[in-house]
Amino acid sequence: MSPSSGAQGDHLSVRQATHADLDRIIRVEQESHNTRWERDDFEGAINSPGWLLLVAATTGEPVGHALARTVADEVEVLTIAVASNARRRGIGQALLAETLRVTGAQGAQQAFLEVRMTNTPARGLYRAAGFVETGRRARYYADGEDAILMSRALGSALSSGEADGR
Ligand SMILES: CC(C)(COP(=O)(O)OP(=O)(O)OC[C@H]1O[C@@H](n2cnc3c(N)ncnc32)[C@H](O)[C@@H]1OP(=O)(O)O)[C@@H](O)C(=O)NCCC(=O)NCCS
Repeated sequence: MSPSSGAQGDHLSVRQATHADLDRIIRVEQESHNTRWERDDFEGAINSPGWLLLVAATTGEPVGHALARTVADEVEVLTIAVASNARRRGIGQALLAETLRVTGAQGAQQAFLEVRMTNTPARGLYRAAGFVETGRRARYYADGEDAILMSRALGSALSSGEADGR
């Protein structure tokens, strides 16, 4: 995967995760309070058909990751998390764009996801990448919060520029 200049000022690279990245992925996941996804989920996704686990790194260790699963021609973006001290620098956007680029190139036509209603940063990230809200699942999460459903078309014409809204 090619380097990206999505993070302002930093040289950001987005690549497939390896087992060596797992400790760091779990740390970022925990500090993001994203408790739905466990180490086994990430480990099982590495090099598994239909699954995509990407990490973003600026200088060394990963500072963010994205997990997605493709079934038939639909990709579900399962989670994206960025270390709290690296947010608002385009890293989430770069991870999402690369997820859509890779899965689109593999044949996915549609991307969808669920996001907590109160998760303003994530809803902003997805909206900025062209996702639109398509529905709501009442009390979807264990704590009773609603989920917002979002989707966007991919298609063969998708380029990384289109994917990240440039
Ligand atoms: C959601 C998350 C991944 C965004 O990552 P990020 O690297 O900070 O996002 P980016 O810098 O790429 O932001 C891209 C766009 O998303 C939107 N956005 C990001 N953070 C935002 C915030 N705090 N408030 C409003 N919009 C926000 C903006 O449109 C932003 O573009 P801009 O900076 O040009 O205005 C990050 O906040 C995070 O890890 N949150 C905790 C984990 C989580 O909730 N993940 C989603 C679960 S599905």
